[in-house]
Amino acid sequence: MGINLSGRSFLKLLDFTPAEITYLIDLAEDFKRLKRTGTPHRYLEGKNIVLLFEKTSTRTRCSFEVAGHDLGMGVTYLDPKSSQMGKKESIEDTARVLGRMFDGIEYRGFAQEIVEELAENAGVPVWNGLTTEFHPTQMIADTLTIREKFGRLKGLKLTFFGDAQNNVANSLMVVCAKLGINFCACGPKEQMPAADLVETCRAIAAENGCTVTLTEDPMEGAKGADVLYTDIWVSMGEPAELWAERIRLLEPYRVTMDLLNAANDDAVFMHCLPSYHDTKTEVGAMVAEQFGISELECTDEVFECKRSVVFDEAENRMHSIKAIMYATLK
Ligand code: CP
Ligand code: NVA
Repeated sequence: MGINLSGRSFLKLLDFTPAEITYLIDLAEDFKRLKRTGTPHRYLEGKNIVLLFEKTSTRTRCSFEVAGHDLGMGVTYLDPKSSQMGKKESIEDTARVLGRMFDGIEYRGFAQEIVEELAENAGVPVWNGLTTEFHPTQMIADTLTIREKFGRLKGLKLTFFGDAQNNVANSLMVVCAKLGINFCACGPKEQMPAADLVETCRAIAAENGCTVTLTEDPMEGAKGADVLYTDIWVSMGEPAELWAERIRLLEPYRVTMDLLNAANDDAVFMHCLPSYHDTKTEVGAMVAEQFGISELECTDEVFECKRSVVFDEAENRMHSIKAIMYATLK
């Protein structure tokens, strides 16, 4: 039977089968081709979507806006300060109001339970644009990027270095387990993914012929890896006071040229972005001044090297978010 995601919300990848995730990656590839060839695809003309952002964004917001416009839809953006949600109106009431006006709702913010509650009450598809726990739209872009580079996904090894319990690391563990990619979480024991999520992902991985491993040894993580992935050490919503401790814990897991060279010859470097690979940001400059280090989760050399595919990933956010919206709204 064909895949049909019409009317579904996109909240976390645990809710989707490997076939459904693969369908979204295929669709994203199709949309990329349409965009590159300048072929119009206003398939959702007349529909309207709303984007609720309780945290800042460049890629996710722009991807939803451009993808929405390319599909012919009206797009409304609500920033962290300009809606009543949470302060003067409950999540449940907000969902019931927006569901009457819009055909789909994107939410970026805090607890996963907020986006789940929105979806329970909205009556229209809700898309998770990042919560504290998960970042599922990023995963369709990342797996598309990996497939473009290697021509396959099954049997590859992806190692995540650093804060292995954040939203991106959690989501990578789930998507790898679903798609037959061997996942390795490489970080200090204090920042390892939650035991119950590891157990869930190991059971899924066993069904799909791959493994989920944890290591505190960076060289062990790099060995045999096809993808070296990292993310910032203090995520949005976490207090700035955490920097000192995170630097102490995570410095050994910075992705360097030595680590990249210890991986497979054709290994690639990935990062969801934004990245602190130099001091050209406020945070990068603050950390340099306070802690005397100018590169955080990866070196500038790795970020800028030929094996870095970070801007392909960023572009693919737009094609994959278009695929997710189209599949659930058509
Ligand atoms: N990767 C990502 O979600 O980027 P933004 O925070 O800029 O949306
Ligand atoms: N872990 C990061 C991802 C940003 C896309 C954060 O939540 O800030």
